[in-house]
Amino acid sequence: MISGDYFGKPYKITMTITEANSQTAKTSRSKLVIATTLEQQDHATRVWLYSGIFWMVVAMMIGTVEAVKLFDPEFLQGVPALAYGRLRPVHVNIGIFGFMSMGYLGAAFYMVPRLTQTPLFSESLGALTAWVWNFNLLGGCLAILLGYSKGKEYEEIPFPFNMIIGLLEIAIAGNLFSTVVLRREKRIYVSLWYILLAIIPFPIYYTLGNSNSFTGIEDAIVNWFYSHNLFGIWLTALGLATLYYIVPKQVHKPLYSHAVSFLGFWTLAAFYPWNGGHHVIWGPVPMWVMSASVTASLAMLVPTISTMVNFGGTALGTWHIFKKDISYRFSLLAYFGYIGASIWGSILAIMSLNAVVHFTNMTIAHVHLGFVGFGVPGLVAFIYFYIERSLKLKYSQTLAEWHFWLTVMGILGYTISMGVNGWLEGSQWVAGNSPQGTMLMRYPYHVARAISGLILLIGQLLFVWNIFKTINYAPKNSPQSTIQN
Ligand code: HEM
Ligand code: HEM
Repeated sequence: MISGDYFGKPYKITMTITEANSQTAKTSRSKLVIATTLEQQDHATRVWLYSGIFWMVVAMMIGTVEAVKLFDPEFLQGVPALAYGRLRPVHVNIGIFGFMSMGYLGAAFYMVPRLTQTPLFSESLGALTAWVWNFNLLGGCLAILLGYSKGKEYEEIPFPFNMIIGLLEIAIAGNLFSTVVLRREKRIYVSLWYILLAIIPFPIYYTLGNSNSFTGIEDAIVNWFYSHNLFGIWLTALGLATLYYIVPKQVHKPLYSHAVSFLGFWTLAAFYPWNGGHHVIWGPVPMWVMSASVTASLAMLVPTISTMVNFGGTALGTWHIFKKDISYRFSLLAYFGYIGASIWGSILAIMSLNAVVHFTNMTIAHVHLGFVGFGVPGLVAFIYFYIERSLKLKYSQTLAEWHFWLTVMGILGYTISMGVNGWLEGSQWVAGNSPQGTMLMRYPYHVARAISGLILLIGQLLFVWNIFKTINYAPKNSPQSTIQN
């Protein structure tokens, strides 16, 4: 039995005498102690992760209701809080600040101590920020449902809830960054680069976007500068950090190329912040803003292709793992979602094409390939990974298989129905037909989207049931095994 105190936390490890005396055991003892201590912690990770899953299901429920309202406007009519104009921003904010932010911050709270070989600066601050984030988001969304929206996209959450989100982002960044500063592992791994890229500048972008200091055109430009960094720097960087962390562990080999990761990271960090203007192409903004952002959007092909090559190269020869490891399968799904959404995004920024598809469901298809095709499978991959490798529990393979295939069907159904719909809408627009005139044409695609949403939702409910049963009812193993993480 090895026991003692590590950073103020008591630990206890059971080994046989031969194991404890062996040279290997002695040399790896400090590593084992760190791994075991990290394992005993992870309290903050769990609050963030489980909250992220909760909000993912809520976002999908509201999304499905909205999707039905778009082909059957009388559905749930008559209750002001359930009007389309209120449900839509609630769906978007829960999707972004509830599901994606909380889920991937949960992954960051897990990864940072392991990548730095140092316990989290403050586990209780980590958990406290998650709880306050939850209640504050709930308050902000209730305010929107009651009609107090700020009325600007991605900034709908009113004061003081938006200010509290900004303060929480600073507290989270402080907690994670202090852990990095105190690190025992001097190398900074690629996942850590991405986490730092997300947590350090984003509180500034968020504050700028929510500051209400600008008006007119300037306001639109600043709003899109902030919003684009919300998807690009905050959510994408956290999502990629997670994939960079879990994929090499899933395939039991290092990343294909460190140099390519380097290229991918620095080009993403350099070009993404310039992309905001592509949301207002052909709007009343200066031409140089549009040109700069279109150029940066096309330049985004460099990090996208780098990531494609790096993960693609790493995945070569891993078919046997793909077949049996659900977590890895979800990682690859997220990889395809990310690459697909990003290449699609660069193409959407081409000015002549944007003129045709901007006001259509083509954008909605791109958005959901990003969030549902990359965000959902990436987080799910991490949670299966966490349950299996860290908690050492085995979930139901049958339910997980159902979950995987329902998710694939939902993503394809959503993206194809809205992509085709968007293209037809754009063509009608160019042909001079009014949006009202194309309503009948759009009907079947809207029904198909709602069905796809329902399929996705059912898949995620199976997932929640599977992990709930696994965590609450499965027998646990001994703590020694945690050294592998
Ligand atoms: C069951 C799954 C989902 C369904 C059925 C669904 C449905 C919808 C619908 C109907 C809209 C409004 C489209 C419009 O105004 O024409 C929408 C917008 C949006 N959804 Fe979802 N959604 C789902 C999942 C998600 C998730 C998980 C996220 C995660 C962040 C998300 C993020 C968004 C965003 C950001 C928008 C606004 C897009 C824009 O303004 O361009 N959705 N969704
Ligand atoms: C190289 C990467 C990407 C590029 C160049 C890109 C480009 C674009 C462009 C040009 C639009 C505007 C379309 C229009 O309104 O006409 C757009 C919209 C959007 N993109 Fe991307 N995209 C990329 C990746 C992603 C990813 C990975 C996500 C999600 C994780 C995402 C989320 C969104 C959202 C939410 C919008 C809708 C904003 C709105 O109008 O409300 N994008 N993107």
